[in-house]
Amino acid sequence: MLVNSKKILKDAKKNKKAVFQFNINNLEWTRCILEKCDELQVPVILGVSESAIKYMGGYNVVASLCYSLITDLNIGIDVCLHLDHGSSLKNCIEAIDAGFNSVMIDGSKLPFNENVELVKDVVLYAKNNDVSVEAEIGSMGAINQNQLSLGINTNLEDCLKFVAETGIDSVAASVGTVHGIYKGELNIDYKLIKNLADNLTIPLVLHGGSGLENAILKKCVESGITKININSDLQAVWSQSIRKFIKENPNIIDPRKIIGSGFEAIKKEIASKININK
Ligand code: 13P
Repeated sequence: MLVNSKKILKDAKKNKKAVFQFNINNLEWTRCILEKCDELQVPVILGVSESAIKYMGGYNVVASLCYSLITDLNIGIDVCLHLDHGSSLKNCIEAIDAGFNSVMIDGSKLPFNENVELVKDVVLYAKNNDVSVEAEIGSMGAINQNQLSLGINTNLEDCLKFVAETGIDSVAASVGTVHGIYKGELNIDYKLIKNLADNLTIPLVLHGGSGLENAILKKCVESGITKININSDLQAVWSQSIRKFIKENPNIIDPRKIIGSGFEAIKKEIASKININK
């Protein structure tokens, strides 16, 4: 069933478990995530970036794809369709109108007050449509050619003020992770995670979950993270499998066989991540 993220995350926060957001890129990706999470009987958040939405054709395409797969595959778990890093009120409205259950509005690059005002407008529209809202405060670091530039970690007072003033349902804080696969040592601030989680009533979201060993993800959850976003790790295992398949089978041209040769790798990676809840 498609639901907003509030209920899924509330239960997880209470039980100190992680809910994963896996980002989707196409039909096959979505299908793999739904089937594996349904097999494991865990709720899942399907994250879709604006660029992935553009790639697939638009908000309505993505929503119909997810709704139809859930029906035709008899998916019984709770699934939340979530706009990842929405960049404007307009795009959040488009997602909500198309049937997304949750949106993230990312105004983290704006000055505090402007971020608050933008998020408040999104919350107003979302609440009227029973859609949950995630927003970000602080600024995440970035990686470029495996070089790490540090971000600015979220400040507790600012975060509490931000949550109180905006009325959001979950908050993405900068705690030392970066988007993408960074192989070096990251300086994750577990104390900050704990401090934020202990003082917040809403769930805390970890962006940039790829490239982190399960023990680190587990430590983040034990410290107070409720939602973990994973994108690059699935892309990495899928593309490795495809490359191997094409090399070993140069005469196969059936796209279903080529694309499908990456399914098991995606499913295995999903199962391995979910294992941290055990
Ligand atoms: P990764 O690509 O590092 O998994 O980050 C995903 C993410 O945070 C999406 O919002």
